Amino acid sequence: MANEILKSNELNFLNRPTMQNVDYLTYGSADFFSAPYGLHWNSRALDSFVNVRTEELRKLLVRVMKKSEVEESVDLGEQLKELTSSIITRMMFRERRSDSGIREEVITMVVELNELAGFFNVSETFWFLRKLDLQGIKKRLKNARERYDVIIERIMKEHESRNHKDAGGARSMLDILLDIYEDKNSEMKLTRENKKGFIMNIYGGGTDTSAITVEWALSELINHPEIMKKAQQEIEQAVGNRRLVEESDLCNLSYIQAVVKETLRLHPGGPIFVRESNEECAVAGYRIPAKTRVMVNVWAIGRDPNQWEDPLEFRPERFEGSEWKITSEKMVSFGAGRRSCPGEKMVFRFVPLVLAAVIQCFELKVKGRVEMNEGSGSSLPRATPLVCVPVARMDIKSFISLEPKVNF
Ligand code: HEM
Repeated sequence: MANEILKSNELNFLNRPTMQNVDYLTYGSADFFSAPYGLHWNSRALDSFVNVRTEELRKLLVRVMKKSEVEESVDLGEQLKELTSSIITRMMFRERRSDSGIREEVITMVVELNELAGFFNVSETFWFLRKLDLQGIKKRLKNARERYDVIIERIMKEHESRNHKDAGGARSMLDILLDIYEDKNSEMKLTRENKKGFIMNIYGGGTDTSAITVEWALSELINHPEIMKKAQQEIEQAVGNRRLVEESDLCNLSYIQAVVKETLRLHPGGPIFVRESNEECAVAGYRIPAKTRVMVNVWAIGRDPNQWEDPLEFRPERFEGSEWKITSEKMVSFGAGRRSCPGEKMVFRFVPLVLAAVIQCFELKVKGRVEMNEGSGSSLPRATPLVCVPVARMDIKSFISLEPKVNF
């Protein structure tokens, strides 16, 4: 049925409905989610930030290494969120260094935003409750948006003053994205609210989802030592143990890629996404009136026993030899068609690389098994953080250099 909606009837389901929580947070739907479709980052734009990703990844490995030297445990989820928010901040605003003040505010903001966006709002579902705020959610939304507005205003002002001084200099991801958007819709001028909404989407869609995917992948690998061993052997063969794995090695790491795909099948960072019909149509023999809200359950599609053999088992082998792009008939982890996730290319460069680097450098020790319960929030986080004691697998100090060689 999802295929009929997303493929056969694609043009009729390109819109997203207005959801009260998201609408309020995004300045009255002034964001990408509500914007016209078709915005995708190209490989050249991503290439230009490879040094940012590499440098921040090395910083993460050094932080974990320090814990391993004193045999202390580390909350990998926290560390991964710090990594992704630093990368997104630096790519988005062309920061030369990640400012820890901004980063911490941003992490708190994203976690809260995603939690609020995914909150089941009864007043929205039942019309007779619309005027009431039984769960206190309107108050929380107002409070959250006021605080975010202060942070985002500050970040934007810094960016604008730097752009002003640095006229003609290199472009940030935000500049590139806004250019693409303005080109496509030249008759439409972007408001300050649009820009704030865009920034919120990129933080909300880009930081939590990627960090959580790596966290779930590591949890699965720790619980499946034979799969962990196979993945580490692949890295040893393709990269060796004298240098750190790099983005350019990914084409030789097909098992690691299969681990990421299997993780996204069982633990999708976007477990449900929403579209709305433009006009009346028929789907799988049902009449769907215009303006009908359709929710695609990515989580259930990934676990459908009619599509997958032993669906609840973590078995990356099922993806071995499959294409790089996983958006297929059977899986919609990044949605489908013109409205699909614009971050997919970045995810497929970044998530396997971080995963490969962490397991290349460390064994991750836990007592017993990692608990696998899901928590609440729109990017399907773990219920409990992934805390483990890292043990260095080799003399990593020699190849994790922290030279600040960032070229924009
Ligand atoms: C594992 C990581 C990620 C997953 C699982 C994921 C998943 C999704 C899904 C399922 C959708 C809805 C697509 C549809 O309706 O067809 C979506 C949309 C979106 N994602 Fe992602 N995403 C991820 C990472 C990212 C990143 C890294 C960014 C940006 C840096 C991003 C930005 C967005 C935006 C802006 C949209 C809305 C696109 C539109 O409405 O036109 N996502 N994502």
